[in-house]
Amino acid sequence: MILPFWVLYTFLGGIVVISYFLYASFAFGAGYQPAPRAVVERMLGDAAVGPEDTLFDLGAGTGAIIFRAARERGARVVGVEVEPVRVLILRLRRWAGGPRDRVRIQWGNLYGTDFRRATVVAVFLWPEAMERLRPLLETQLGAGSRVVSHWHPIVGWTPASVDARTRVYLYRWPDAGPSAARPTAS
Ligand SMILES: C[S@@+](CC[C@H](N)C(=O)[O-])C[C@H]1O[C@@H](n2cnc3c(N)ncnc32)[C@H](O)[C@@H]1O
Repeated sequence: MILPFWVLYTFLGGIVVISYFLYASFAFGAGYQPAPRAVVERMLGDAAVGPEDTLFDLGAGTGAIIFRAARERGARVVGVEVEPVRVLILRLRRWAGGPRDRVRIQWGNLYGTDFRRATVVAVFLWPEAMERLRPLLETQLGAGSRVVSHWHPIVGWTPASVDARTRVYLYRWPDAGPSAARPTAS
């Protein structure tokens, strides 16, 4: 039996996409899953994101959080992403829909990012990444800033609120928790 060309091309295309997805997961340590709409709304609502805020999404994916924060809440946003295809999608989305004056896309590693300007940090990462990120948050966050995390808590910090349904954790810095470090004077 001879397969029609479109079946063959669809099959090969599927293999290429899946292979790249697996490759990216290993090469960049960067698995991908966009935060659902209800989760993003909860994150932005709990962190009370507004026009006076600068929100960093550390691991921005394809922009589920940053574009809503910029368009619907008027915030300035910076999306930091390591995986090049997602960075390309982020830049295309910025170019096509903007708002360009409030959206910045940064291609790079979140662990080497200077996010001292952030008043809100949004993350949807995994436990090891949260653990690695914690000391960076403790050194870089300014007093009064908020961290909002989907799915994984910051171990050792005390959340200001937890929404069990969407698994959204909100933290305020300086943290009130017993093991929390204090921000260093700058
Ligand atoms: C679970 S996705 C979340 C995407 C987006 N924040 C959202 O909520 O829709 C995690 C993202 O973090 C990115 N990422 C993982 N490690 C990273 C790193 N070291 N530096 C920058 N981005 C990273 C991945 O490429 C992936 O796009």
